[in-house]
Amino acid sequence: PDSMQAKLLAVYEKAEYFYHHLLVNTQTGEEAYRYLLDRGMTKESIETFKIGFSPPKREALKLYLDNEGLNDPELLKKSGLFSDREDDVFLDRFSNRILFPINNAKGQTVAFSGRAFMEQSGNYRTAKYMNSPETDLFNKRRVLFNYDKARASIRRENEVILFEGFMDVISAWQAGVKNGIASMGTSLTEEQISVLDKVTDHVVIAYDGDDAGLEATKRATDFISKDTHFTMEIATFPEKLDPDDYIQTKGIEAFQDFLKHGRDTLMSFLMAYHRKGLNLKNESERLKYIEIVLKELARVTSAIERELYLKQLQDEFDLSLETLKEQMHTFVIEQQ
Ligand code: CTP
Ligand code: MN
Ligand code: MN
Ligand code: MN
Ligand code: MN
Repeated sequence: PDSMQAKLLAVYEKAEYFYHHLLVNTQTGEEAYRYLLDRGMTKESIETFKIGFSPPKREALKLYLDNEGLNDPELLKKSGLFSDREDDVFLDRFSNRILFPINNAKGQTVAFSGRAFMEQSGNYRTAKYMNSPETDLFNKRRVLFNYDKARASIRRENEVILFEGFMDVISAWQAGVKNGIASMGTSLTEEQISVLDKVTDHVVIAYDGDDAGLEATKRATDFISKDTHFTMEIATFPEKLDPDDYIQTKGIEAFQDFLKHGRDTLMSFLMAYHRKGLNLKNESERLKYIEIVLKELARVTSAIERELYLKQLQDEFDLSLETLKEQMHTFVIEQQ
């Protein structure tokens, strides 16, 4: 019922306040706070994004919520904030992690993602990030990190920048890029695409420059291509850097410049992608490459764009435009 939803929202609001307070104002959170500042996160961002810290003492959240009058065991179980167990012992699911609140489109906090930031004790190593489970409030397939804050500027610029991670979104935000969001590690879902569809028709994919990021970019382009409304551009960060690394090592101005002028069209990204690992001096690999590029081109609707890349192929491989067009058209027919 709605009252349960309202109560869950209240629990999340209190939890967010508690974690944020611990990070910013207490000795318990000092090390985590230092870690963030050392990574270049500003105090202003920590405030804006209400970053928090879950203490190693796993009873603390329960005690705090008790004091706030939020102690219905049913409610606490439904919140997903505590570790799953049958009895009524409530231990904080996140322990000793930096917490990124995840908001719904209205800006209400509905989940957290927790980052481990120091060597965990013992030989037990946990995942770098850990997310809240799905709850009545949190639908993973729908939520996009920072969508609530980015929406106005996505509309204004008719462009959304899609990042992999929280730190990328926040660093970019600090660099003045306010239309960045993240799908939080998972591949983009149809629900997330339909959320974006309402506010823009242009996506810039700015995933990590490592191999995993490159593969994720390819998957995202295939997926987004299914909605013909969207046009895409790709920012492929060099030296396997992710956008946050890029900002920290090369600076804000270099980042702004790269994001603005260093983007590729979808086609040149795909051409570079398919070229990887091929030796184009080898005849059969060369044929394979030309064919696969023509297949991609067959999906391009703009005649000008097609012509542009056909000419590139013509020049690079010394083939006639007629032959290339003819071959491309067989793929157009195949794909219809
Ligand atoms: N992620 C996750 N679980 C993991 C690793 C990653 O949910 N074990 C998600 C997080 O949302 C993360 C994103 O995938 O932000 C991208 O992963 P990665 O590039 O490894 O992390 P970064 O965002 O670069 O985080 P950091 O800079 O703090 O290492
Ligand atoms: Mn990554
Ligand atoms: Mn649309
Ligand atoms: Mn990364
Ligand atoms: Mn990173």
